[in-house]
Amino acid sequence: MATWSNLNLQNGASPLMEQIIFFHDHTLIILIMITILVSYLMINLFFNKYINRFLLEGQMIELIWTILPAFTLIFIALPSLRLLYLLDELNNPLITLKSIGHQWYWSYEYSDFNNIEFDSYMIPSNEMKNNEFRLLDVDNRIILPMNNQIRIMVTATDVIHSWTIPSLGIKVDANPGRLNQTNFFINRPGIFFGQCSEICGANHSFMPIVVESISIKNFINWINNYS
Ligand code: CUA
Repeated sequence: MATWSNLNLQNGASPLMEQIIFFHDHTLIILIMITILVSYLMINLFFNKYINRFLLEGQMIELIWTILPAFTLIFIALPSLRLLYLLDELNNPLITLKSIGHQWYWSYEYSDFNNIEFDSYMIPSNEMKNNEFRLLDVDNRIILPMNNQIRIMVTATDVIHSWTIPSLGIKVDANPGRLNQTNFFINRPGIFFGQCSEICGANHSFMPIVVESISIKNFINWINNYS
């Protein structure tokens, strides 16, 4: 989960998030190289005393500084496209979770299993226990099995919300009248926090998302004992 003054991405808990982090680092390296080069050139411009009275024809340098950035962009665009298509790929999901955004809470439906459904509200600060996180914990967590392909379908009832979990690499907008779909695979057991990230209203920051990832055996147990 995110903690104070954390500027980096959270650790990836799914293969897709790992790929996103690799792409972020790759792009950041290119960005740093460009920034250093341009800063060097600009600083030099301030301090040089060279005078060129005939600065008119420079086809070669113009050719170079046109093609070089285009070439650099290809190195960002191709991995970006690869990632874009990878994120949308669905391979035989084991279960489907439906997530519905409301003002201002989420509700979930496990349509595969006797239609389990529940609401998920943020725990108010004055009702928190010592082991809960302020503004992040909810009363009913999403329980999901790890090491399985999971499909998530996202929609909303009132305004646009966004179902977002950074450590799983998921961010899908919840639109009224539309059903959006994405998928993920959780690598390890744990609790993964997210928040609605569409500016949906005054209490927008109070609709957190919590996924509790457990083993498939415990998940079946949870399903069976759900009342
Ligand atoms: Cu719902 Cu922001």
